[in-house]
Amino acid sequence: MHARIALCPGDGIGPEVITEARKVLDAVAVRYGHTVSYTEHLIGGVAIDATGTALPEDTFAACAAAEAVLLGAVGGPRWDDPKAAVRPEQGLLALRQRLGLWANLRPVAPYPCLLDRSPLRPEKLSGVDLIVIRELTGGLYFGTPKERTMGPEGLRAVDTLVYTEHEIRRVVELAFRIAATRRSKVTSIDKANVLESSRLWRQVAIEVAERHPGVRVEHLLVDSAAMRLITHPSSFDVIVTENMFGDILTDEAAVLSGSIGLLPSASLGDDRKGMYEPIHGSAPDIAGHAVANPVGTILSVAMMLRFSLGLEREAQCIERAVEEALRDGCRTRDIGGTLTTHAMGSAVRERLAEAAAGGSSSAMLSRAF
Ligand code: NAD
Ligand code: IPM
Ligand code: MN
Repeated sequence: MHARIALCPGDGIGPEVITEARKVLDAVAVRYGHTVSYTEHLIGGVAIDATGTALPEDTFAACAAAEAVLLGAVGGPRWDDPKAAVRPEQGLLALRQRLGLWANLRPVAPYPCLLDRSPLRPEKLSGVDLIVIRELTGGLYFGTPKERTMGPEGLRAVDTLVYTEHEIRRVVELAFRIAATRRSKVTSIDKANVLESSRLWRQVAIEVAERHPGVRVEHLLVDSAAMRLITHPSSFDVIVTENMFGDILTDEAAVLSGSIGLLPSASLGDDRKGMYEPIHGSAPDIAGHAVANPVGTILSVAMMLRFSLGLEREAQCIERAVEEALRDGCRTRDIGGTLTTHAMGSAVRERLAEAAAGGSSSAMLSRAF
């Protein structure tokens, strides 16, 4: 088949990790007889510098026309002035919203060979295999009013946390469908003891749960969930939560895997179109040093093959090649090694042949869509 991919490398380490992920996609495509065409677009800080806006219209149009978007990261100290009128992150948020990508899937399953890279004791990590379904186009990120005004007592800033029943229901439904393909447990995380929006969240989650009697459900308050993610991480299967809680909890969950540089994500909406990006940011502290871990972005390509292109075999080929490379001791600095970003990407590519020969295991998750 032929795939049309829009690339948005963005800022900081974004272009470094995208380069390696693209090469892995090309290599998998050749191996399985597919072709891929790319268009490359400005987003974030580089877009602000070139055009004055974080999401130029031609970037949006190209992303809307492509089958899938592969994004690096946006942001950095250069655009961090809290008084700035436009920020790189606005570009990413606008793209997610305008493409209608309301669910963000972030799987976390530590590699056995990397258990020593987590500050948690290895016995705590055994059996950890969870996926966070983060609501992506609602909540505090998008509610209006969102503004700064000058009042009699000085400046005043407002963010608004809004959720509709519809927004909650569709993402919680998705979580239950995904759970049915896994270990059949959903943990819905909210702050229902304080927030009205969370009380609606819990009410809807309870209703959805009643229609999925085969799936166990639990409701946790976000503060206590944050603790349990560290004390009993293997007790989770599918986590579903609102936008900002999901953002924070997934950086916390990254600690279980050993490095945030390892974790991929898929952002999906009503159809197969998706955006794929690592969960980490532009990592300004290491940008330009060629030490960024490209694995999170490479695994995001695997998710793209699975969810937007329907190529499960190819997705698993990449996932196995990554696993092999790590098992063979290939490591970037964040996971205790000395490989450059490029060398780590090559290490994965070199293992695609062997991984392809390994055959396919069951395609559970993709069946939820
Ligand atoms: P970050 O994720 O960029 O970095 C946090 C830490 O993790 C840093 O020490 C960094 O070096 C390390 N790290 C991150 N990715 C890595 C990788 N692939 N390999 C090795 N180490 C890695 O978070 P931050 O520093 O809080 O944010 C920096 C900028 O990135 C901010 O402007 C923020 O808004 C932006 N950001 C963007 C996205 C995105 O585009 N999706 C996500 C998160 C943060
Ligand atoms: C992420 C990032 C973004 C978010 C920022 C850069 C807008 O932290 O993708 O996790 O908060 O969603
Ligand atoms: Mn984040």
